[in-house]
Amino acid sequence: MARILAFSGSSRKDSYNQKLVGIAAKAAEQAGAQVTLINLGDFPMPIYNQDLQNEQGFPTSALAFKQLLLEHDGLLIASPEYNSAFSPLLKNAIDWASRASEPNEAPLSAYRGKTAAIMSCAPGALGGLRGLGFLRMLLQNIGVMVVPNQRAIGLAGSAFDEHGQLKDAEQHKAITRLAEELVQITDKLVSP
Ligand code: FNR
Repeated sequence: MARILAFSGSSRKDSYNQKLVGIAAKAAEQAGAQVTLINLGDFPMPIYNQDLQNEQGFPTSALAFKQLLLEHDGLLIASPEYNSAFSPLLKNAIDWASRASEPNEAPLSAYRGKTAAIMSCAPGALGGLRGLGFLRMLLQNIGVMVVPNQRAIGLAGSAFDEHGQLKDAEQHKAITRLAEELVQITDKLVSP
């Protein structure tokens, strides 16, 4: 059974992206995966600095996030777009977990061979689409296989109902399909 870790690149209260990844997480669970949904805000990490790591070691929160990555096969990620790129919160978490925390640890061990599906949500019409290109490239560069499909949900201010669900049935279906695609591909890799 595929183990999927789901998180967004926003720790904002009422984050659209956290809502979106929550919807995808539910769909992945319904598709048969074991899903862990987290909020990166619960893993506060200083901005990465190699001196900090050398002098003080890994912060507990960074180690905990990295451990979660190691314990899962696939990732569901929703990121806000900040000035055309994905968020610094997400980048910083990815950077910390990319560093070796054990002697003789293989490079990028938290990422290599993992799968991911990426999505975004923003108040503008493009829905954060431009940030997804950067996120896809980064993930692929560190050894993550990103599924070809992706989704950007625009006009976020009116996209969700009071229960945090997408109002538009087509958008809901698209996020569900994206999550299902991740589960199917990850299942094949985990137990081919
Ligand atoms: C933004 N926002 C934004 N939106 C967008 O579609 N394209 C962009 O380039 C940017 N740039 C940007 C920069 C900065 C610094 C901030 C704070 C915001 C708006 C952004 O999409 C909006 O704040 C979302 O609500 C963020 O996602 P969450 O936190 O709701 O998940």
